[in-house]
Amino acid sequence: MTSNEQHPSDEANPLRSLTLDQLRRRTSMKWRTYPADVLPLWVAEMDVPLAAPVVRAVTEAMELGDTGYPVGTAYAEALAAFAGKRWGWDDLAVERTAIVPDVMLGVVEMLKLVTGPGDPVIVNPPVYPPFYEFVTHLDRRVVEAPVGADLRIDLGVLEEAFRRAAAGGGRAAYLLCSPHNPTGTVHTADELGAVAALAERYGVRVVADEIHAPVVPVGARFVPYLSVPGAERGLALMSASKGWNLAGLKAALALAGPGAAADLARMPEEVGHGPSHVGVLAHTAALRDGTAWLDSVLAGIDENRRLLTRLLAEHLPGVVHRPGEATYLAWLDCRPLDLGDDPADVFLRRGRVALSSGIPFGAGGAGHLRLNLATSPEVITEAVRRMAAAVG
Ligand SMILES: Cc1ncc(COP(=O)(O)O)c(C=O)c1O
Repeated sequence: MTSNEQHPSDEANPLRSLTLDQLRRRTSMKWRTYPADVLPLWVAEMDVPLAAPVVRAVTEAMELGDTGYPVGTAYAEALAAFAGKRWGWDDLAVERTAIVPDVMLGVVEMLKLVTGPGDPVIVNPPVYPPFYEFVTHLDRRVVEAPVGADLRIDLGVLEEAFRRAAAGGGRAAYLLCSPHNPTGTVHTADELGAVAALAERYGVRVVADEIHAPVVPVGARFVPYLSVPGAERGLALMSASKGWNLAGLKAALALAGPGAAADLARMPEEVGHGPSHVGVLAHTAALRDGTAWLDSVLAGIDENRRLLTRLLAEHLPGVVHRPGEATYLAWLDCRPLDLGDDPADVFLRRGRVALSSGIPFGAGGAGHLRLNLATSPEVITEAVRRMAAAVG
């Protein structure tokens, strides 16, 4: 197949810019985990060239040899300005932020601040698998509060998990994924307000992973957890990593509500030496000057989401796809195809297409898979063709 046909009207869509040959020269996880005959639509990397402001910032740093340790609040200031313009959140307090190496290590640090060994950490499966791995590795206990059939937080189930956690006597935390990976659900202000009220009632500390926040199209409304009334004791993690495809340029920000400032202040200063200085420069440039590029990518993702819906209806009508509003991930229920618990394995072996198995996403993950939409329409079309042929 070829994916290098350029249409004049597509020039603005970064998802159409790179050919498959160019992408196969990449050496990152998405492109090097499987042999070259496998089409990769799994790990959350985007098939895009970088935003020009990011390239400029990194190139300037290389030319200057500006590759020391990170310092200062430029990243937080850029996020505060972005948050004001994008989400109407004008209260991001730069003095209650800290740079951390990446979002997951930031989550670990936040959980260390508000829980102890053996304490429960509540999550909403199906959810990003490292939530299980990192929490367990930290010697905390994962407690599952599955999302409802509508793929939204089930507040009754969550309350029961909070109640039990509180009754257990330890210091409980709730690791909220907002927007939710893998379903793309964007939590509403009402839902987040209810979460905050429950957290206060049961003494559960909320740590919100908001890495996908920039990947919310203009028509949907992302609500930062810390902007919600009642969330003053919350902690959050944000990053330009997903929105601008900067996972290889490590950096993220930890944010504390006013009632959690003292907790964040207890984080060892050395944690802030962990992010890459070049990463901080890149993330800062993305947030400050990369909005037009982001909007082009989001438009392309939206187009791809609609394309996937059409292709599945035509070629794999058994697959249940409830498109989420945000992220560039699609969560597919393949149980009607009768491929067993791990359809991704079947599609890999028979179709040579790499998707993320639903199993590690926890309760509700078996029989499902996650497909990465951040690629060209041609790759998506070819992937569905291969998937259909694999079960045809
Ligand atoms: C919900 C969520 N959190 C964290 C990460 C990883 O972020 P980082 O590489 O900054 O640790 C991802 C990556 O896809 C993610 O989807």
